[in-house]
Amino acid sequence: MNLNKLQPSLLHHLPIVIVTSLKMYFRATLLTAGLLPLGNALPRPQLTYDENTGPVGGVDPPFPTFTAAVGDLRGSTDLQGGIASRPPTSGGDSAVVPDPELVNGQEADADLGLYLDFNSATAPNGPQPIRGGLGGTDPGPRTFEYEKLNPDLFAPPGTDSGDVPNAMWPLGLSHNRAGIGNESGWARQQNTAVLPAATEMAGVDMRLAPQALVLKGSVRVAAMNEDGASFIDDVTAGDVWFFPPGIPHSLQALDEGCEFLLVFDDGNFSEEDTFLATEMLLRSPKEVWAKDLEIDVSALDNIPQDQKYIFNGTPAPADIEKQNITGSAGALSGPTGYTYHWSQQEFHNTTGGSVKILDPVTFPIADMFSAALVVLEPGALREVHWHTTSDEWSYFLQGSARITVFKAPESSRTFDFTAGDVGYIPQAQGHYVENTGTEDVIFLEVLQAKKFGDISASQWLALTPRQVVKDTLGFSDDILDKLPKDKTLIKPGNANLTALAGESS
Ligand SMILES: *[C@@H]1O[C@H](CO)[C@@H](O)[C@H](O)[C@H]1NC(C)=O
Ligand SMILES: *[C@@H]1O[C@H](CO)[C@@H](O)[C@H](O)[C@H]1NC(C)=O
Ligand SMILES: *[C@@H]1O[C@H](CO)[C@@H](O)[C@H](O)[C@H]1NC(C)=O
Ligand SMILES: *[C@@H]1O[C@H](CO)[C@@H](O)[C@H](O)[C@H]1NC(C)=O
Ligand SMILES: *[C@@H]1O[C@H](CO)[C@@H](O)[C@H](O)[C@H]1NC(C)=O
Repeated sequence: MNLNKLQPSLLHHLPIVIVTSLKMYFRATLLTAGLLPLGNALPRPQLTYDENTGPVGGVDPPFPTFTAAVGDLRGSTDLQGGIASRPPTSGGDSAVVPDPELVNGQEADADLGLYLDFNSATAPNGPQPIRGGLGGTDPGPRTFEYEKLNPDLFAPPGTDSGDVPNAMWPLGLSHNRAGIGNESGWARQQNTAVLPAATEMAGVDMRLAPQALVLKGSVRVAAMNEDGASFIDDVTAGDVWFFPPGIPHSLQALDEGCEFLLVFDDGNFSEEDTFLATEMLLRSPKEVWAKDLEIDVSALDNIPQDQKYIFNGTPAPADIEKQNITGSAGALSGPTGYTYHWSQQEFHNTTGGSVKILDPVTFPIADMFSAALVVLEPGALREVHWHTTSDEWSYFLQGSARITVFKAPESSRTFDFTAGDVGYIPQAQGHYVENTGTEDVIFLEVLQAKKFGDISASQWLALTPRQVVKDTLGFSDDILDKLPKDKTLIKPGNANLTALAGESS
């Protein structure tokens, strides 16, 4: 399987000679090879399909069938208000929801803000937008699956306030671009078109078909820099490659194919605008290409006239040396190489979960890209924090989680996430990630920064003069004694909602 694609000419036109299976991004890209297979574990909530039943909008299904059209399309002018008879004030089409089912935690104090698991709230009434003494029943019509997946949008914690731009996009709602040929692959994206707040970064989830070779779930990466120094390497699930702007490269899926995630440093990036090798050759005179490539004009006769995006290609040889081409400028490796074998890095393990960080400190070619892969146990929290210079682009690989985005001075909104969802938090806006499910949450945090870092809210309070914190927040010395002065990144927590709901009542 080959990917034949050049990236959009958003910035400048670079003279790159491309043949099939080469591609080039005009913007810097961070590609996380095969991270997605981790996400195969099913997220909670797992939904069964149910829907509203009964009359809707005064129409009572099922509709009768007619063999010939009957009835007028428009009604009488006698139905105008003031002329027509009025409906009864009661006993007509009722908006009363009989016996609304409230789930565990829904009656607890709204400011406690417990995660609500709506899975037990089924037809006919479904989940209700009620929390503590807030909200009210919803007679519909609606599709319960949305509310079950996004309980914190439907019944927000009482602490949510004001307006915060949407910070969540499920890639499951992105349009898929299919590759040419049986099982060749596909790509789907998140950019400003679907998530307008995500101005600085965009993401693409891509699948390339397998080839029958020895390596498993791997990709062969090849690239060249301005000096003509070349690079080739094979990466596997959990590894990363990075291409600075304008560096042309090729990707070949090996053996079992691959699925990978691309992060772009431009929220407007679109896979639909890709700069294709075939198009490049078709858009300049053949005479010029014959001169440029030092070939006969007739050699250009077989260039496909249609775009080739993802398509089936010739299998790559298992032996990487067979594809290793080096010029007089030599080969790139180590600090000048374009890959990092992140899957081989051990996690930093702490109470409640694990973290590993990849940034230019150890992967210098990835100039302004920093990432953390975080594992949260059920109930655990990626602590409340913010990033000082960069927006955060995040991607959920497994589990169910929620994030509250705090936007100064006084707005906040809580969003729910499951596997395959993208999150976006603007620079300096406070947030946390809480595991709201019964299995580990695995997610990726990506920053545009030379070093991965954040400001921890609890560490800030611990390292601020005590009198100032006491005067501002009313905390006692006992409470302040317990604040850790070292950043923990993750805080363990109780996953038992019943216990938490009980504590509040
Ligand atoms: C597509 O490829 C799959 C896997 O190689 C194969 O099982 C299937 O028969 C193919 N389908 C068609 C229509 O060629
Ligand atoms: C993205 O597109 C919007 C609307 O066209 C434009 O205002 C903005 O400057 C673009 N951003 C970048 C980084 O190109
Ligand atoms: C490719 O060839 C160059 C030059 O011989 C060598 O330095 C480099 O290590 C080779 N790369 C691989 C992946 O074998
Ligand atoms: C971290 O945890 C993982 C999984 O539990 C374990 O395999 C690994 O050895 C631990 N790493 C360290 C540095 O303790
Ligand atoms: C959760 O907490 C409740 C109340 O404390 C307790 O009755 C229940 O056994 C707990 N459930 C689990 C799975 O530990």
